Amino acid sequence: MAKIAPSILSADFVNLERDIRALKENGASWVHVDVMDGIFVPNISIGIPVVSAIRQITDLVMDVHLMIDRPIRYVEQFVKAGADYLTIHIEADQPQNTLDALDKIHALGCKAGIVLKPKTPAEAAIPYLEKCDLILVMTVEPGFGGQKFMADMMPKVQQLRERMDDINPDCLIEVDGGVDAKTHTTCKEAGAEVLVAGSAYFKAEDKPAFVKLVEG
Ligand code: DX5
Ligand code: ZN
Repeated sequence: MAKIAPSILSADFVNLERDIRALKENGASWVHVDVMDGIFVPNISIGIPVVSAIRQITDLVMDVHLMIDRPIRYVEQFVKAGADYLTIHIEADQPQNTLDALDKIHALGCKAGIVLKPKTPAEAAIPYLEKCDLILVMTVEPGFGGQKFMADMMPKVQQLRERMDDINPDCLIEVDGGVDAKTHTTCKEAGAEVLVAGSAYFKAEDKPAFVKLVEG
C-alpha cells in the first residue's frame, strides 16, 4: 500500500505545529520537509532549527528533502536534527561526495536516499543504487509547490522500481510534485510507494478522505 507524505511547504507557517499535529489525525504517517538554499534551487525555505522543532512535536516518519548545493556539508546536522530519511540530489555535487554523503547518513543511523530532477535520467542513479533506502523522482522542477505534474516521469519511476527489485527490493520509490486526486493513480501504477503531496493535501477540504484516496 502506498504512503502519502504531505509536504509542509504548503502548510500555514504561522500555525505549523497545528498543521503538523493534524497530519496524524488525518491519517498520514509521514511528513515531507523541503529544505531549499536559494542556490541549488531558486527559492529559500527552512533549515536545521525548524527540522529539529518539528521532531519535538511529532513521531511521524520525517522525510527531509535537501535541495541544497553540496549537501555533504550539512547531512550530519540534519540527521542530528531528527530526520528519519534524508535525501540528497545527485546533481548537487561530484559523484564521490554524493557516495560519501550517503555513507555518512547511514553511519549516523539514518535512512538515506537520492533525488533526481526531471531532466536527470534513471541511468544517472546507477552508481548510488546500492546505498539507497529511498529514491525520489521529481515530477516537477524542484523549488516551488503548486506546479503541474509531469506524467512523462513515469517511465523513470518504472525503470528505477524494476532495477531496485533486483538490487534492493526494500528500497522505496517516491514521487514529488503535482501529486493530486487525479495524478496519484498513475504514480502508483508506475511503482511509486511514497507520494509527496503539498498543495493538494493542504487544499483538500476533507483531508482524511484525501489521505485514504492517495494511499488506497
Ligand atoms: C518542490 C518540493 C515539493 C513541493 C510539492 O520542490 O520538493 O515537495 O512541496 O508541492 P506540490 O505537491 O504542491 O507540487
Ligand atoms: Zn520535496
